[in-house]
Amino acid sequence: MCGIVAYIGHKQARPLILEGLKRLEYRGYDSAGIAVIDGSLNIARAVGRVSVLEEQLEGRRGFSGTIGMGHTRWATHGGVTEVNAHPHRDDRHGLAVIHNGIIENYAALKTYLQDKGHTFSSQTDTEVISMLISELYEGDLEAAVQAALREVTGAYAIAVICEKEPDTLVVARKGSPLIVGIGDGEYIVASDPSAIVAHAAQAFTLDDYNVVKITRDGFRTSNLHNAQVTLNPKIEQLEIDLAQIELGHYRHFMQKEIYEQPQALRNCCGGRLDRKEGRVVLGGLSSISKELSKLRRVVLTAQGTALHAAMIGRYLMEDLAKIPAQTEYASEFRYRNPVVEEGTAVVAVSQSGETADTLAALHEARERGAMALGVINVVGSSISRETDAGVYLRVGPEIGVASTKAFTGQVAVLTMITMFLARKRYMSADQCSDLIGEMEALPGKIERILEQDDRVRRVTEKYVERENWLFLGRGYNYPTALEGALKLKEISYIHAEGMPAAEMKHGPIALINEGMPAVFIANRGRQYEKVMSNIQEVRARKGHVIAVATEGDDRITKYAEDVLWIPDVPEPLSPMLAVVPLQLMAYHAAVLRGHDVDKPRNLAKSVTVE
Ligand code: F6R
Repeated sequence: MCGIVAYIGHKQARPLILEGLKRLEYRGYDSAGIAVIDGSLNIARAVGRVSVLEEQLEGRRGFSGTIGMGHTRWATHGGVTEVNAHPHRDDRHGLAVIHNGIIENYAALKTYLQDKGHTFSSQTDTEVISMLISELYEGDLEAAVQAALREVTGAYAIAVICEKEPDTLVVARKGSPLIVGIGDGEYIVASDPSAIVAHAAQAFTLDDYNVVKITRDGFRTSNLHNAQVTLNPKIEQLEIDLAQIELGHYRHFMQKEIYEQPQALRNCCGGRLDRKEGRVVLGGLSSISKELSKLRRVVLTAQGTALHAAMIGRYLMEDLAKIPAQTEYASEFRYRNPVVEEGTAVVAVSQSGETADTLAALHEARERGAMALGVINVVGSSISRETDAGVYLRVGPEIGVASTKAFTGQVAVLTMITMFLARKRYMSADQCSDLIGEMEALPGKIERILEQDDRVRRVTEKYVERENWLFLGRGYNYPTALEGALKLKEISYIHAEGMPAAEMKHGPIALINEGMPAVFIANRGRQYEKVMSNIQEVRARKGHVIAVATEGDDRITKYAEDVLWIPDVPEPLSPMLAVVPLQLMAYHAAVLRGHDVDKPRNLAKSVTVE
């Protein structure tokens, strides 16, 4: 969602903040703003991208201080206007706030503050925080922030500066991520490490209800009642480097991340697969190894692309480890009255580790006695800190809003967890060893698929004007079909539906008309013949069939107008290959339609609000 960045040190704050905002822009990009203390507090805001704000600031005076903060917004309360853009200023003390999250009791607080004589100019919940801090300010910014946050319910990561205390930056968090980078006599605070890595080698993340007062000489961490708290986790080396968050020779981050998949999978599986011994070594699960032997049920919960990976995880667990498994939209699970039996593990699957619904679902399951496991990419994220154990993806930072390498990483980790569990049950060392061999071959096979990129583009070009597409698959590749449809929808704005191929006859077949593109995942596997029948049903109604099929399958070319090839692979691993041409198709469709691939409309990278 929104991105926040704040700086205090000895350098000019403005260029540093603008640079940080550009790196955070994937979190939200409908408007942006900056505040700098340059004698007095000065604020500039603009609707649109950070570049618009940057243009607005050119030649403008009052922004040359060494303390400041900036924000890139994804609107929740209030429309996309300059007035609603952050930072939000108070009306008494020259203080300003930037915020990521949602204040749930903002309406009641606003009425209270209006009664106290405060005048609001925006429709945002954030302005309520700035006015509340202002109301409670008695010459100590840190104390006023603590007091204000004691009154607030909801989620927040905030940064606050005040012209009356020009050497103090106060930041706080509950439910939304915030990380403090430590430089040489300078501090840079941001929603995620990509905005700070160029300036700080060390950092710490805030825990919920932490308030940090930062000056150029150091920092102090307290809770909302001003009791000093120790950092958990402690100060750590930042593990990402600049090359990982820069485009290099690619046009878009999504393209870069699709191409990174072979290496991402190597990193993800590296050191975890022991082919010789026929076992999977997952350090993150070792502490609960005994409990896992008694596991009776697995509930996989997630949203969006991560849910599609979780669905594949379910098929894997049932098929290879013979463990009853189910998948749940986290947003539904958290508000149902789910029955959590003894011996249940809930697995939260999330790239960011910050998705509000997934976090809440995990929390709910844990309260009901489930073991909480995480399949997460971002180390130290909120979800990873709520789990009893877990396995990180290790695919590197994912910046493209449309998730790609995280998906393959999630499926790879779920495959490894399944193998780990299966070895405790029915899978022999030899079977495991064979599957490990196949896993190790995946990166090379993805490289072969990527070599067809031009061909995928040409096929996409043929159908790109069509407004309705179907994505169909069965078994392991039913979730892949869902993922193909989601990718196309979110970046090219083409309407697409994914479904199990057999479901088509129960209604959606009525949609098929002449030339409608239907993408079938028709790799060799248990349901190949059935998929071939479904293909013919579409052809009979003059739909255009694009098939993702196994290399060497001569039959498919008779039935499909276009074929995108994937190398042969055991069925349980096939989604990690079949998804790649679908990602490329979505990418090319968006580029051909002239859309901003990395910043699709209405979307933001991590959904930290409900
Ligand atoms: C789609 C996409 C989203 C995310 C979903 C969950 O390309 O990226 O559907 O998968 O918002 O996000 P995480 O994985 O961060 O929990």
